[in-house]
Formats: sequence, C-alpha cells, structure tokens
Amino acid sequence: MGIEITFLGHSGVLIQAGAHTLAIDPFLTGNPAARHTPKDIKCTHIALTHGHADHLGDTVEIARANGATVIAAFELSSYLESQGVGKLEPGNPGGRIATDFGWVAFTQAFHSSSYEGVYMGQPCGVVANIGGVTLHHLGDTALFSDLKLIGELYKPTVSFIPVGDRFTMGPEHGARAAEMIKPKFAVPVHYGTWPLLAQDISAFAPAGVKVRKMTAGETWSIE
Ligand code: NI
Ligand code: MN
Repeated sequence: MGIEITFLGHSGVLIQAGAHTLAIDPFLTGNPAARHTPKDIKCTHIALTHGHADHLGDTVEIARANGATVIAAFELSSYLESQGVGKLEPGNPGGRIATDFGWVAFTQAFHSSSYEGVYMGQPCGVVANIGGVTLHHLGDTALFSDLKLIGELYKPTVSFIPVGDRFTMGPEHGARAAEMIKPKFAVPVHYGTWPLLAQDISAFAPAGVKVRKMTAGETWSIE
C-alpha cells in the first residue's frame, strides 16, 4: 500500500496509510521546530514513547479533536483517561497490540518517564506496522545491546533514532544503534530543537544503513 511520513520536528512523526494516520509523539505547542499546530493534525491513532512533555505534547487536544485511539504505556494511558481521552490501548514493553492498520509493539528504552512530576510508567520504543511497512521509533534512549535483538525481531524499514546527546544517545552512539538494528533507513531525531540539544550530527554515519535526514514539515513517501 505504501505510506507517507511527515516529520513534525523534534521527535514527532505522522504516518499516513490509506484511511489510517498514526501520530507518534505529537509535540507541537512550545516546539520551536514545529511547522504544524495541533489543529493541523488529522489522525486516527496516536502512539507515545513516554510521558515527557516533549513527547506527550499535544496528545490530549489532538486525541479529543480527532476521536483518535492513543496507544501508550499503562500508567501514561491511565493519566490520559483522567484527561478525558476516551479511546486507549495500554501496553508495556514486549507486547504487541493489534490495530485497524496493522499492529504496534512496545520495545525497551533506557530513559525515564514522568509528567509534571508523576510517574508515567516504563519509557518505550514503538514499532508500528502500517501500510505494510514496519517503522521503529526508538523514543528517548541510551545505547543498549539488545537493540540488535529488536532489529532481528522486527526488521524495520525505517528507524527514528535520537541523536541529540545529553538526554539520549549522541550521534556516535546513534550510529552504533543503527548498525545493530540494521533498518534500511535511519532518520536522526531529537536534536537541534533547543540550545541544549544543539548538535553536529556528522558523526551519525552508520555503516550499511542509509541516513535520511528530515526537516520539520517535510513529507517522504515509501512504497
Ligand atoms: Ni524524554
Ligand atoms: Mn525527549
């Protein structure tokens, strides 16, 4: 079927396939890189990697406006229920969730997850099978060697890899992650958004993996 990926800036992506559109980590308000406002986002599903404000972002507003189903870690899902989000699919690392477009699976991430000081469950990576394409968003994470196993299990076409350093991997560790996962394309994310994440990512040059940089607002079609 094929998909269209739109980069929302920072760590957010929108994936459209036929009648379904999945947003991952739609952080727009307060995101200096964003070219979209929450009202611009039309989606059927939202998947979240963790509860930090630069990932949870505008999820509540977008989910309510679209009647979208939100797929998130158990505790984060409970929080969203308390905020009036009606359609929720709670999960945790290791689990796969069937959806209208295919499936979503949560993987491990080495990070933290809270919102306004409240624990939001395990931070995760998100693997999504949509339009017949498998995409892998690592969330915020340090480098860990089980990324190799995750690559073997899911064989993603595209991996979105955080490379901004300080809170996640930097470009060198991000390159090592891509070499372990072995996606066809690696998209660097979570860098340059603020001065703390200013980063020369020229060292993000994984062997055997194509690097596909995306600018905020750009759309990329994959068959
Ligand atoms: Ni985070
Ligand atoms: Mn983050």
